[in-house]
Order: sequence, then structure tokens, then C-alpha cells
Amino acid sequence: MAGVDPVDGAAAPDQYGIVGHPIKHSWSPFIHGVFAKQTLQNLVYRLFDVEPADFEKTVPGLFASGVRGLNVTVPHKQAAARIATEKTERATRARAVNTLVLRADGSVLGDNTDGAGLVNDLEINLRLSLRNMRVLMLGAGGAARGVMGPLLERELFELTVANRTPERAEALCAQFFEAGKVASCGFADIPGPAYDLIINATSASLHGQMPELATGLVGKHTLCYDMAYGRGPTPFTTWAEAQQAGMVCKGWGMLVEQAAASFELWRGLYPDTKPVLQLLEPYR
Ligand code: ATR
Repeated sequence: MAGVDPVDGAAAPDQYGIVGHPIKHSWSPFIHGVFAKQTLQNLVYRLFDVEPADFEKTVPGLFASGVRGLNVTVPHKQAAARIATEKTERATRARAVNTLVLRADGSVLGDNTDGAGLVNDLEINLRLSLRNMRVLMLGAGGAARGVMGPLLERELFELTVANRTPERAEALCAQFFEAGKVASCGFADIPGPAYDLIINATSASLHGQMPELATGLVGKHTLCYDMAYGRGPTPFTTWAEAQQAGMVCKGWGMLVEQAAASFELWRGLYPDTKPVLQLLEPYR
């Protein structure tokens, strides 16, 4: 229930926000603001810039001050997994939490909506069926780990994880071998032929880099999806265009869908994401 403002008697908005460092460029306040307006929810959503050393004492303080739910982003997702008193299975497997929910009994639920965000973007916005797809994921860090479980739930034909450090890909796949057909390799050993879907989950784009890959991995039917978002092309999308991929996409839809899944955890409603994606169009 929303509180009542002691001054004018109006219901005070419920408080939410995102914790990260740095955080000032986050789109989340805009996205959640549109969701709240659309669904007539009385809430505010703020940015909390918190240094890593302060995270574990700041977050309980935010909850004590009336905040009811938080998104968590870089570099705090692992720390959030530690402070959640209970975690969903997908957050446990991802070993990372991007959504915290303060419950009525004071317990804090940790969930990870990143994988659902990716899968919903692929299935709902891009209208793909993941079933029986051959999927190549580049990267084996936190971003890759966060989406492995939800992707494998879709009964892919196979998921190959390729990483600069092959041992990391091997370790990641070892944790998911029961969930589906997974294989790991280094960038130089990626088996062909062309994949149906190639997901870039490395942070190489952020450093303006693209790993060197063999030709023949991309065909006319291949969707190349960069989990990074931002304005204009990334090194990965430029590579994908040069390989004449059937479709090339950045992670804006994943961003909006993971936000919608968090919003649903807090408010019990899954908002319509299409209007937000349209509003973001000029910035993509
Ligand atoms: P994140 O949470 O963004 O996934 P991370 O856990 O540090 O961050 O993982 C970064 C991923 O990007 C890793 O797969 C990393 O490869 P290594 O495991 O070999 O470090 C990958 N990565 C980062 N910079 C890269 C680059 N220049 N070329 C290729 N891969 C890169």
C-alpha cells in the first residue's frame, strides 16, 4: 500500500530505483516512468549511485527508508545475490541478481530478469521461435551466465559458448550441462556451419573491440544480437553487417523487457513494452 503524505493527505508514491556505479546514464528511470504512467501506478523511480564498498550497507538503508524494490546493475549484481535473503532459481543459477523485492515480512527476494528480457525480446518483439535453433554465444562472463538458463529452457538444438579464455566457457557450460546441449570452445575453434542466432555477451564492444572470428559462422538466416545497447553501430554489429547477417540487432529490447519483468515482480502487472521501444527509437 502507498503511504499517506502527512501534509496534504495524498497517497505518497511508492519508491523504487536502480543501484549502480556509475549510473547517471541509465535509461531505467525513463522506462519505469513510462510503465508507471501506462499502468496508473503511483510510484517514483530514482537513481542511486553507490560505490562497491558501500553497497552492502546502503541497500538495507534504502529499504529501511521506504524503498520497496531495486534494480541492480554493474558492478553490484553479485553483491546483490549475497544480500538477498531468498533467491529465485534463475538468479541462483545466474549467480547474479538484477532485481530486489522487499516483501511484507521484511525478507528480500533476489531475482534475475536479464535472461527473460533477452528471451522475450527475441520471441515477442523479434517474433522468433528459439526451439531447435543453433545458437552461438560469444563471452562467458556475468552477462553470458545471466542468460544461459532462460535460453536453454527454450529447447534449443544446441548452445555453443565461445570465449577468449576457453577455460571460462568450459566452466560455464559445465554448470549448465543438465539444462540442454551445451558446448564450449575458444574463438579460433568455433565449429560451423552458420548459426541461427549469434549473441554477443562479451564486453569487447565497450572497449571498441571485436574478437577475431572465422568466416562461415553467419548466413543469410542468421540473427546477430549484441546484448550491448547504445547509439549507432558497435564493433559486433559492424562485423555482423559485413558478414551479411540476415538481421542485426542491439540489446534495447532486452533492456526494456528485463525492466518490464522487474516491474511485474514489484507491481504484479507486465506493462506493454511497445510504446517504450517506440519512444526510445530516436536514441538507438
Ligand atoms: P560481464 O558481466 O559484462 O559479462 P565479465 O564477467 O568481466 O563482464 O565478462 C566479460 C566477458 O567479455 C568475458 O567473456 C571476457 O572474456 P575473458 O573471459 O576471456 O576475459 C569478454 N571480453 C572482454 N573483453 C574482450 C575482448 N577485447 N575480446 C574478447 N572478449 C572480451
